[in-house]
Amino acid sequence: MKRYDFDEIVPRRGSNCLKYDMTNEFFGSDDLLPMWIADMDFRTPDFVLDALRQRLDHPVMGYFFNPEGYYQAIVNWMQRRHGWNISAKWICFSPGVVAGLSFLVQNFTDKGDRVLIQPPVYPPFFEVVRKNDRQLLFNPLRIEGDAYMMDYDDLESQLKKGPKMMILCNPHNPVGRSWTPEELRRVAELCLRYHCLLVSDEIHSDLMMRGQRHTPVATLSDEIAQNTITCMAPSKTFNLAGMFTSEIIIPNPELRARYKNFLNDTVHIYGNLFGSVAAQAAYIHGADWLDQLRDYLTDNVAYCKRFIAEQLPELRTYRHEATYLLWVNFQGLGLSHQELTERLVRDAHLGLNDGQTFGDAGEQCMRVNLACPRSTVEEAMQRLLKVKK
Ligand SMILES: Cc1ncc(COP(=O)(O)O)c(C=O)c1O
Repeated sequence: MKRYDFDEIVPRRGSNCLKYDMTNEFFGSDDLLPMWIADMDFRTPDFVLDALRQRLDHPVMGYFFNPEGYYQAIVNWMQRRHGWNISAKWICFSPGVVAGLSFLVQNFTDKGDRVLIQPPVYPPFFEVVRKNDRQLLFNPLRIEGDAYMMDYDDLESQLKKGPKMMILCNPHNPVGRSWTPEELRRVAELCLRYHCLLVSDEIHSDLMMRGQRHTPVATLSDEIAQNTITCMAPSKTFNLAGMFTSEIIIPNPELRARYKNFLNDTVHIYGNLFGSVAAQAAYIHGADWLDQLRDYLTDNVAYCKRFIAEQLPELRTYRHEATYLLWVNFQGLGLSHQELTERLVRDAHLGLNDGQTFGDAGEQCMRVNLACPRSTVEEAMQRLLKVKK
């Protein structure tokens, strides 16, 4: 089996990459180690780049359609990686998951309707609701012991307020939980009981820590599948975020027809030629690469958690089961949030995602992107010591 080298430093500065080349705009400094926006510093795998090069051998880049092989690659991936038997016709396109979430909000709710989310959560979940003139309802996660958990009593009381849609993050960004089948079943059944459409953002589903297994919520029963729309993508998994190509999987034929009509009226139904080529190659050839990546990321997370426990015991991390994004609580340092953000940039020269953008519960927290070579993680941890003084 080929061994992939995740220790390689790939210089990204100067490639118009958001993470490195826009730190001044986002943090007010160019002199930062960027550990923020969720893409990886690893090279996109060769089997994807080769497929793109091969497509370039044909000199016309006109309108295209997704070949059967594209759909089959996704069907096989869902089956092999997640034990989910989907039909090719359930697969719809969206130009990125965030765009897909916004389309779903626009298509399946009306202005003024309520949409339920579980903060602290990925900031665009707030934006796709607010910017479409819908109202947010919150079912905050709560901390029990070392882990974030769902509060089902509160969930039910929020559902009684009649939201049309709930957006679930499975696995959860930023808290790193991979929800168990039992946890998911409770959410999905409550949604059914209160006639609330469940949209499950599963973009991080391939990025499980070693030994963890992802459960697509739609696998729990046919009834749940009929009330669930699942967002998946190769973008986080294979570092293809710039391709803006993702899958919206809709088993319910009526919901699917509605989404496809909407898509046809707004963007092209097949999406982006290079995104399609890249996704197909990734899903066909990516299993070994992904297994090795998961091992590497698991070790990066373990390294950080250990470092923090030993060298910065005032900081707190939580049970981490999935994603390469580590949620760190700095409350124990006794700094104000403002002071903390200033120190991170000025003294530690680190660019982290500000926890407050994930909702109020993110005060004193930061999200750290660990999808980078170990040497970068080690450097980041040394820099982190400087917040303490
Ligand atoms: C939960 C979640 N959904 C969606 C996205 C972004 O998806 P896209 O780039 O396909 O819009 C991210 C990126 O970090 C994410 O964490």
